[in-house]
Amino acid sequence: MANETMIIAIDGPSGSGKSTLSQRLAQALDFVHIDTGAMYRSVALAAQHAGIAPDDHERLGQLCRQLQIRFARCDGQERVYLNGEDVSEAIRTPQMSLLTSKISASPAVRRAMVELQRAMAVDLDVVLEGRDIGTVVFPDADVKFFLSASAKTRGQRRYEQLRSRGLEVSLEDIIDQVIARDAADSARDHAPLQQAADALVIDSTSLSIEQVLERMLLRVQQVRQGH
Ligand code: DC
Repeated sequence: MANETMIIAIDGPSGSGKSTLSQRLAQALDFVHIDTGAMYRSVALAAQHAGIAPDDHERLGQLCRQLQIRFARCDGQERVYLNGEDVSEAIRTPQMSLLTSKISASPAVRRAMVELQRAMAVDLDVVLEGRDIGTVVFPDADVKFFLSASAKTRGQRRYEQLRSRGLEVSLEDIIDQVIARDAADSARDHAPLQQAADALVIDSTSLSIEQVLERMLLRVQQVRQGH
């Protein structure tokens, strides 16, 4: 695979460790990292600002065509820019998570984002994380992972992330929201959260980040060596 680029797809529900692991994997391999959840979150934020309802597919489609979403690393942290404005924090509130789950069910939004994600990955070694990367965006990805963990563990992780950012939230509410959002993401008609048949499934409930990363790196190495 000397001169070819490699696409790594990481899918899974919220709190499965996707964000941390996809960033760590991309860093370890010196690949570009594309957080597709942040892209859907940015669309949701822009829709909220523009007063567009989640079922107004036509206006959502138009909105997507006008948006500029960009990722950049700043002081070792990945930042998300929407039309030039740093929205990294604004897109990660619990309210925005719920709105994103609704907005991302719109076929017009999905069509636009999938097109953008494919364009962003052209001629690059990339790690993409999301819900439909191995099934819809890159069904022929070189390596596919599906991360999972128990709902309680995932809720706990999300709770700790939000608390560390100073947000006042209750653990019970966050676990309930994680379960409700996964149910909505899994049940929607368009590109639901689904495990690709050829993905390596890793349940991280009782594994550390380092242990999961080790398994992922081993898998990438195996694929590079052709087995
Ligand atoms: O990974 P995340 O929690 O940042 O994702 C936010 C929302 O976006 C989540 O409800 C599912 C949706 N999403 C999606 O539908 N498809 C993707 N490829 C990534 C995220």
